[in-house]
Order: sequence, then C-alpha cells, then structure tokens
Amino acid sequence: MVAARKASPLILGVGDNEYIIASDVSALVSRTQNVVYLRDGELLHITPTNFSIITQTDEDVSPVVNRVTWDIEAAELGNYSHFMEKEIFEQPAALENSMRGRFSEDGSTAQFGGLNISPVEFRQIDRLSLIGCGTAWHACLVTEHLVERFARIPVEVDYASEFRYRNTPLYGNPLFFVISQSGETIDTLGALREAKRKGYKILAINNTVGSSIAREADGGIYQHVGPEIGVASTKAFTSQLLIGSMIALYLARMRDMSFTDGVEYVKALKGAPDLVRKALEQAPHIREIAKRYSKYNDMLFLGRLSLFPVALEGALKLKEISYIHAEGYPAAEMKHGPIALISEQCPSVFFAPKGEIFNKLVSSIQEIKARKGKTIVITTEGCEFPAGLVDEIIYIPDCHEAVLPIVATIPVQLLSYYMAVERGCDVDKPRNLAKSVTVE
Ligand code: AGP
Repeated sequence: MVAARKASPLILGVGDNEYIIASDVSALVSRTQNVVYLRDGELLHITPTNFSIITQTDEDVSPVVNRVTWDIEAAELGNYSHFMEKEIFEQPAALENSMRGRFSEDGSTAQFGGLNISPVEFRQIDRLSLIGCGTAWHACLVTEHLVERFARIPVEVDYASEFRYRNTPLYGNPLFFVISQSGETIDTLGALREAKRKGYKILAINNTVGSSIAREADGGIYQHVGPEIGVASTKAFTSQLLIGSMIALYLARMRDMSFTDGVEYVKALKGAPDLVRKALEQAPHIREIAKRYSKYNDMLFLGRLSLFPVALEGALKLKEISYIHAEGYPAAEMKHGPIALISEQCPSVFFAPKGEIFNKLVSSIQEIKARKGKTIVITTEGCEFPAGLVDEIIYIPDCHEAVLPIVATIPVQLLSYYMAVERGCDVDKPRNLAKSVTVE
C-alpha cells in the first residue's frame, strides 16, 4: 500500500503485525499507541511486514515512532451523553494536567520546557503577536488582556486567516505565538509559515503532539488535556486561557511583578481546578435556565475587559451547537447600535463580576431591562443587584483576575450545551462543522 501526505495530516499506526493509516490519532489509538507522523510531501510504502518513508525527491526518511500518551479510554464517551459534556466536566483534571510541572521551585513564576527561547531573549521582546482561529482566537484575546495587565507588554492579536494576507507592518522585536488545539488548522499553519518567512520566531500553544504546527513552530507549550473529540472546543479553550495566564505571569515576573505578587498569582492558578469544580456545581441550575431559553432564536452575550472575549466564546458555543443566532459584544458598545436588537425575543447573557466597573455593568443591564430584554447574569458570589433587575442569575466563585476568564467560561459552556440538547441538536457533530479545519 502507498500513501502520501499533502497538506492534511496523515498518521501511520504501527500495530502488532498490522499497519493502520489515519488522519487523526483518535481513529487508531484503540489498535496501537505507536504512531509515525508523516511530514508534508512524504510518501509511505507499506508491505505486510515492513514500511518505509521517502521524500518527493526520493530521499529515505528514517521514521520516528512516537508513543501516544493517552489511550482509547480518553477517546471514549464513558457515562456521559456527549463528548462535549464529558469534556466540560473533565476541565478540572485538564487544567491540572496543563500546569503540572510548570511552576518555578520558589513558586513565584511559571516555567516552560519546550520554548527553545532563553530568558534573555524573552526579556528583549517588545511585544507579543498572538494568532489563532475561532475559539483559539478568543484565547488570544484573553491572553492579550492578561499580558498587558500584568506584564505591561503590548500585544497584537490577529485572526490567522487575516494575518496571512494583510501584510501587517512588522517592526522591532515581537515574539509570535500561534494557538491551535488541533495543530492542523490550515489558516493558522499558513500564518505560522508567513511569520517564519519574515524571519520571526514563532511559538505554539497546542494540544496535539506531532501535529504540523507543533513540528513547524520554533518551540511551544503542549496543553496535555487529552483528545478533544467534541467539535465545540471546551477543555482545550480553558487550558489555553490557563497557559496564556501563565505566560503573562512569566513575563510579568521578568519585569515589574514582585516575588510576593508572583506567589499570589501562582496560588490563584493552582486554585483554578477547584474553582472550576465549584462552577460546575451550578450545572443543574443552568440546565433549568437552558430549558426556559432554548426556544429563542437570537441571543446576545455581553462582557467587558477580560470577559469580552469570553462573551464572544459563549456566543460561538451557542451558535455552533444549537444554531441559535448569537453575538458577543463589549457591554458598553450596546448603546452604539446593538441595543436596537433588544426586545422580549432577544435575551442577553451578561457577565457582571465584582470589580471596579460593576456599577457600569449594572447600568448596562438596566438599559436592557428598560427595553424589555431578559437578562441571564453571570456574577461572582456576594454581588447583589437591584430587586427585579435580572431575570436569571448564575453565581461563580470569587477569584483572582488571573483565572476569572477560565471560571466565567464554565456557565456559558453549560448553557450552550443544555440549550442545544433541549433543541435536539447533534451536539458533538454540529451541521457544517469539522473538528479540524484543514482546508482553506
Ligand atoms: C471551536 O469551538 C470551533 N470548533 C472552532 O472555532 C475552532 O476553535 C477553530 O477552528 C480553531 O481550531 P484549532 O484550535 O484546532 O486551531
């Protein structure tokens, strides 16, 4: 048998007296955990007893057999109704895996093994450029907020599909990161190659060992959350937020963040899994809300600062699995047009956590209420609202800014999941969507 890899991923499973070819590890992990990742342009020749790989110019390639670190159990449904449900509830463990072994001895900063970039080089960068698609792009936006808030380094964020062709003027000493769960998204791979063509170092935050992006990046951070089977990303997203927050800490401690503040930040990160466990306890309450709102065909998601990207993510989750038209907006932007959409037929999900702009968020909610819009408010424990102002309230535990986006994501993941289930949608394989977009 002969196989060739061109752009889309191709993997050889090396089993007991058998060879298996697939495009994704989860398709063959039940037969073997020994895999060979083919590079673009390589040709594979298999006989009943052996295999060989050559390049298009007929050079022999010595294959590297990798051991997949997870087994078929991780790619099975277990007692859940959908993979998305399983992966939502796996998030505490996934977050623990993402941060395992990644804090300094003195507990005041993060540390990463595979960046292939020295601390001196890190200190010399004058900005970050973060690139991704879809949910990964939302993770870039949250990371932008945290890096600028804590490390005081300017950050630019680009859709990968835009970065590839808009030829943005590059100057100074930026460090590029691409974020990609699959490591095969063709637009993100294209953006990585464009940045490299321009001579820049590019690192990857990625969940798939051996993927094209993992191999072509100059270094990176694996997410270690195991296979994400549901098309709608959940555990991979919160893991990306955690790693983005760890990068913010790492850069901040190289600059103005004190040892004490660093220790407090690390404590907050280590506490994230338990905070997510607490947020997940709201699932039955959120399911009841989903039943009351699953009939609507329009919904707005509103947040500010680091929760504006989480509003975008909530809207994307709802769109892609329930087919409800949903949009995310910075809450204060409502008055510049979107408030025209508010009516009894268009409810809003509103992030209104404790903080310096809490009163401004309350007045935005009042604007919606005045136009007969229903509101589902996600807020931190201890916050109170004027009587009768909000229609539904979902509490999340109070927490450090470094992990607030992670914890605030849980309710909107659950809300979109339960609304899609109520509507009888195919939650794990929504219409028109693929888990990994390997075509332009
Ligand atoms: C997320 O729920 C979507 N399925 C989609 O937006 C996804 O995030 C995007 O295609 C990027 O995928 P990647 O992280 O594998 O690159």
